[in-house]
Amino acid sequence: MVLGISASGRAEGITVEAVRATLDATGEETNFVSLTGLRINGCTGCLGCAGDNVCKQADDWNQIGRAMLEADAIVFGAPDYYGTINGLGHACLERTFSFRHRERFLLAGKLGVSIQIDGRAGSTVRSFIEMLMGSNKMAVVGNLAASGFSQCYTCGYGGHCAIGNVVARHGFLEKIEESHLPPHFCAQEEARDKARMTGRILGSMLRARRGLE
Ligand SMILES: Cc1cc2nc3c(=O)[nH]c(=O)nc-3n(C[C@H](O)[C@H](O)[C@H](O)COP(=O)(O)O)c2cc1C
Repeated sequence: MVLGISASGRAEGITVEAVRATLDATGEETNFVSLTGLRINGCTGCLGCAGDNVCKQADDWNQIGRAMLEADAIVFGAPDYYGTINGLGHACLERTFSFRHRERFLLAGKLGVSIQIDGRAGSTVRSFIEMLMGSNKMAVVGNLAASGFSQCYTCGYGGHCAIGNVVARHGFLEKIEESHLPPHFCAQEEARDKARMTGRILGSMLRARRGLE
């Protein structure tokens, strides 16, 4: 099973679309999980997990952690916030600390794909996701990047807000028209193709592992 995790705070953002497109291309059984609306704290370093590799915080991460353990591969997508991974994604990955005590590495050997949405040169979204996968002894086998959809287009004030992305890109607007909107993932041809390629390769690798191809 391939687990896809969208760490975006938005239920219908670019991250969801990119993760879903990658999963769809695998030809494998998949499980898609969105972190939208979930309450996921950061790791507190309490070490309650040291003895049994089970996190003792009672929040929504535990269901995500269980899904990670069941997966053969994990496609993790997150948006760039201020040059780095968004807080929800960071917290989710931090909590895998509980899986890696006493030489156990419960995610070891699972395949991983990182997906970064938005972010300029120097953004650490991709490197952070892949570093966390590496520290869990997963094998990173692919990555994908796509352009984001700035919140300024839908906040209600974008057309006349001098500090926002809409005015920065189009100047002051009476009305934000459809033609001003950034492309959704399905209209980003290059990223869409990369999702298809990455998903297909991931699926083929999993089938080869099972001796099916
Ligand atoms: C708090 C916040 C900070 C952001 N900072 C950046 C940034 O530094 N660079 C960037 O390229 N995009 C930034 N964005 C834009 C998001 O990456 C973009 O809206 C992306 O599409 C969000 O993913 P989603 O569509 O899956 O929700 C920021 C968005 C928010 C809400």
